[in-house]
Amino acid sequence: MDVHESIEDLRAGLRSRPHPVVLVPTMGALHEGHLSLVRAARERAGAAGTVVVSIFVNPSQFAPHEDFDAYPRPLLQDLDLCRSVGVDVVFTPAREVMYAPDASVRVLEEQLSQGLCGRSRPHFFSGVCTVVAKLFHIVQPEAAVFGEKDFQQLAVIRRMVRDLAWPIDIIAAPIVREPDGLAMSSRNQYLDAESRRQAVVLHQALQRAREAVLGGARNPQALREQVVAEIQGAPLARIDYVEVVDPDALTPLPSIANQVLIALAVRFGSTRLIDNLCLRKLPA
Ligand code: PAJ
Repeated sequence: MDVHESIEDLRAGLRSRPHPVVLVPTMGALHEGHLSLVRAARERAGAAGTVVVSIFVNPSQFAPHEDFDAYPRPLLQDLDLCRSVGVDVVFTPAREVMYAPDASVRVLEEQLSQGLCGRSRPHFFSGVCTVVAKLFHIVQPEAAVFGEKDFQQLAVIRRMVRDLAWPIDIIAAPIVREPDGLAMSSRNQYLDAESRRQAVVLHQALQRAREAVLGGARNPQALREQVVAEIQGAPLARIDYVEVVDPDALTPLPSIANQVLIALAVRFGSTRLIDNLCLRKLPA
C-alpha cells in the first residue's frame, strides 16, 4: 500500500496503477462504515483495479464553533485498517497541500444543499463540494463511493458531478450500524456512556416510522410528529431537525406517494448525530 502526502507524489504513483481507479473520500477515524465503502470500491475496481482512500479532515466544511480541532486523527490506526482491507493507495494531505493560504475558489451547489443539514451548517456543503471537487481532479477516478448515512451529501455530490459533467460514477453504500442500531460515525466516540445509551433512540424512531409507512401511513406531518415524540422520549436528545422529504428533491412532501426520506439531526450534549431512512417503491 502506497501512502502519499503530496499531490505530485500521488499523481506520479497513480500513473503506474491500473484502471479503473475508485476513490473513497474520508476524514479518517475509520470504522466499519468506511470499510464497507472500501469493499464497495474494490467490487467496482475489480481485483486488478486501484482503490484509493483519501484521509483529510477538511477545514472548509467546519464552522469556527464546530469540532475541527477535536476531530479524531488516529492516522496510524487508519493506515492499518486500510491495509487490512486491501486499499492500494492512501492520500493523506496536510491542510497546506489542499488549501493555499489565499485560496479563493469554492464550489457551490445551490438547491439540494439548502435544507436539512444546510440550514444549521450553512457552509458545510460548499466545503464538501470544494474538497471533493479537488480530490476528483487530483485522483481522476472512474468512480467514487459515498455512504447513505450522509444522504444529503451523497445527493449534493451526485448533482455536482451531473451538473459539471464529470465522467465519474457515484456509488452509494448503505448505512452500517452498531449492533444496537446506532449508525456508525467517527463522532460516536464523543458520546458519554449515558448519551451513547440514549442515542439508540434515533434508529428506533426511524424503525417505527418504517413500520408506520409500510403499514400505510401517508401523512408526512403525522409521521414527523411520531418521530419527534419518540426522540423526545430520550431526555438528553436535543432535536436539530426531523424532516420528511422527497429523497430526490429533498423538499417537503405534501403527502407520501411512492417514496420518502426521513432525515434527522439530533444533539446529545455537544455531539451532533445524523441518521435517515429512505423508502422507495412504496405501494400506492
Ligand atoms: P466521513 O464522515 O469520514 O465519511 C466518509 C464517507 O463514509 C462518507 O461517504 C460517509 O457517508 C461514509 N460513512 C460514514 N459513516 C458511515 C456509516 N455508518 N455507514 C455507511 N457509510 C458511512 O463524509 C465525509 O467524511 C466528508 O464530508 C468527505 C466526503 C470526506 C469530504 O470531506
